[in-house]
Amino acid sequence: MRITLTINGDAREADVWPGESLLYALRERLGLPGSKNACEQGECGSCSVLLDGTLVCACLVLAAQADGHEVVTVEGLAQGDRLHRVQEAFVQSGAVQCGFCTPGLVVATADLLRHTPDPSEDEIREALSGNVCRCTGYAKIFDAVRIAAGAA
Ligand code: FES
Ligand code: FES
Repeated sequence: MRITLTINGDAREADVWPGESLLYALRERLGLPGSKNACEQGECGSCSVLLDGTLVCACLVLAAQADGHEVVTVEGLAQGDRLHRVQEAFVQSGAVQCGFCTPGLVVATADLLRHTPDPSEDEIREALSGNVCRCTGYAKIFDAVRIAAGAA
């Protein structure tokens, strides 16, 4: 089936199998590999994207469900060569090791700060509780969120 959707502000079309995930369509059909596939079960958050402004795991959404809707991926956060302030903060705090979790964490953090510009510690932990990182121990990730919040 053919789907038509808006991705990072651009009108896009893709031919998809009715049962395939939005994550698969983004990565394999639409040339957007920023969203990572770590578990494909909604457990890790590495595939986080915004669907009509709501944070979702792209591995749990059918591509067909995104037909006619608006998707923002990690590729849509930077402005040209200029990184999003959350991306800058992750670099600045050293919150990136293997980097596999980073796109999902960046999208989730940008979503948090959009709704809660000055989050408390509990709000940061709650907002990122669906994003698993196997490398950093989270301290530098939380530092990055605080840096990005301060840069708002
Ligand atoms: S790949 Fe989607 S939550 Fe892990
Ligand atoms: S930096 Fe490796 S999983 Fe988070």
